[in-house]
Amino acid sequence: MMHLLSKIKNLVKKQGGKAKKPWHDLRVSYLLPAREQFPILHQQINGQPLIYLDNAATTQKPLAVLDASRAYYETINANIHRGTHALARAATAAYEAARKTVATHLGCTDPDELIFTSGCTDSINLAAHCLSARLQPGDEILISTLEHHANIVPWQMACERTGAILKVIPCDDHGVLDQEAFKSLLNERTKVLALGWISNAFGTVHPIVAMTALAKQQGAIVLIDAAQAVPHLTIDVKSLGCDLLTFSGHKVYAPTGIGALWGRRELLESLPPYRGGGEMIKEVSFTGTTYNDLPFKYEAGTPNIEGAIAFAAALDFVDSIGKAAIQHHETALMRAAEMELQQIDGIRLYGPADRCGALSFAVDGVHAYDLGTFLDQMGVAVRTGHHCCQPLMARFGITGTTRASFALYNTLEEIAAFGTATRRAVRMLR
Ligand code: ALA
Repeated sequence: MMHLLSKIKNLVKKQGGKAKKPWHDLRVSYLLPAREQFPILHQQINGQPLIYLDNAATTQKPLAVLDASRAYYETINANIHRGTHALARAATAAYEAARKTVATHLGCTDPDELIFTSGCTDSINLAAHCLSARLQPGDEILISTLEHHANIVPWQMACERTGAILKVIPCDDHGVLDQEAFKSLLNERTKVLALGWISNAFGTVHPIVAMTALAKQQGAIVLIDAAQAVPHLTIDVKSLGCDLLTFSGHKVYAPTGIGALWGRRELLESLPPYRGGGEMIKEVSFTGTTYNDLPFKYEAGTPNIEGAIAFAAALDFVDSIGKAAIQHHETALMRAAEMELQQIDGIRLYGPADRCGALSFAVDGVHAYDLGTFLDQMGVAVRTGHHCCQPLMARFGITGTTRASFALYNTLEEIAAFGTATRRAVRMLR
């Protein structure tokens, strides 16, 4: 991967040829060398080349990640922070190096602020559980209409435990948050703002820096669910101004079962622990327990050691390409996909024009499930349904959409094939 960027630049220079598609001027096959790193993509599904466009659900894994997982189990597998033998030391060093890599990817210089979790859902549950200690009846927790269930239900549970009240920022018909309504919902009772950065369903990118700043003026704790942002955007927790940030590894080319919670040191130190068990303690007796320092206070039990190491390998892989190149490429894919779909009569695209990552759509007279099934027959993997956003679907009076979502390894040729397959499926279904 060392010379990936120069390969990409050479490819870009060599590009040429006649325009065949309306999006020809967007032609960017920059990331073809990176695509070669994903073995799963080189297969046929239902006799057709696989076109994997369900990346908002989970991404595929490059060789660097597969190799890191395998190398861990083949060479250093041992429990961490517990043993003095060579393997235990090696595994501990690799796990802590992984923590540093993940923290650095977020612009964080203090790796103790980076807690490994099983994924974004686990991270949000940790935050909601621990912040409950600070909530009183009548306090308000603010979320938005576009949240994933993982950023709704843990807060509803926190409200049940504490008597706090859940408030919801409305959105307009493009899935854009109503900033005036947001301002009017903020008040001295707002204790938490928990906001997804990019909507997994519609691809809306919320102005989280400005929204965080307004919530901080009211003294609220701000959690950003960055599950859909980390694969696409450069993250710098310092400039975001938030208190907590959560994401999953598997949406950014790492294995499932590993994720992260970043939190400001003072906040994490002041909150109670989450789960009890080994590793999160300093001293245990039958009369009481003292808790460990960060980050171990929040990592009870044997963690997903291999997952953390492979997570770091995934982020190193992403950094070897660069978020700017990835974003540029994925934006071209998005614009091409929009143009392909807009050729269909009766198509509705959800979300604003500057959507990122996910393109949700519905076609008059065609059920999303049927469309998804037909596309699968043609080798195209998309997600259909409510995308774990039932309240958002209710806001739009629909039960679901068809969603194509993009990753660095997708190509414009795949988008063209997706367009052709979708038009064909619509013709057959109508
Ligand atoms: N949150 C994942 C998605 O949007 C599962 O598909």
